[in-house]
Amino acid sequence: MTGRDKEILVEKALEARRFSYVPYSGFRVGAALLAKDGRIITGCNIENASYTPTNCAERTAVFKAVSEGILDFEAIAIAGGPGLEPPGDFAPPCGVCRQVLMEFCDPDRFLVLLCKGDKTWKEFTLAELLPLGFSGKNLEG
Ligand code: THU
Repeated sequence: MTGRDKEILVEKALEARRFSYVPYSGFRVGAALLAKDGRIITGCNIENASYTPTNCAERTAVFKAVSEGILDFEAIAIAGGPGLEPPGDFAPPCGVCRQVLMEFCDPDRFLVLLCKGDKTWKEFTLAELLPLGFSGKNLEG
């Protein structure tokens, strides 16, 4: 991935926050998932009055992609913060989303870009965010 590829992904994650459905927390999260074939699939968080059915932005993006037959991924950018203001801080992915990414991504290669409203980002591999992650390989014994 070039620096420009990463910048585009960051911009898409920031834009995706616009569609967040967040009547309860007001905390808008956007995600942009880069598939290995170059496609970018975006997602936002979608809350629910019963709280637990809430879906995070990252999982929205992954499930959208998988449901369309896209299964190979290179990176995800994530942007989160209160209201429609550009986020002033980094929003790391929750543990459930890290585990969902683990299902579909090579943890040593897949990149997670945490971004702020000024389009700066910090990057990590999934393995750095989910050390000793559990995957289908563990079930093989
Ligand atoms: N949220 C995400 O979308 N992604 C995360 O990884 C962490 C949390 C959402 C869920 C909820 O709508 C709001 O942020 C506050 O927790």
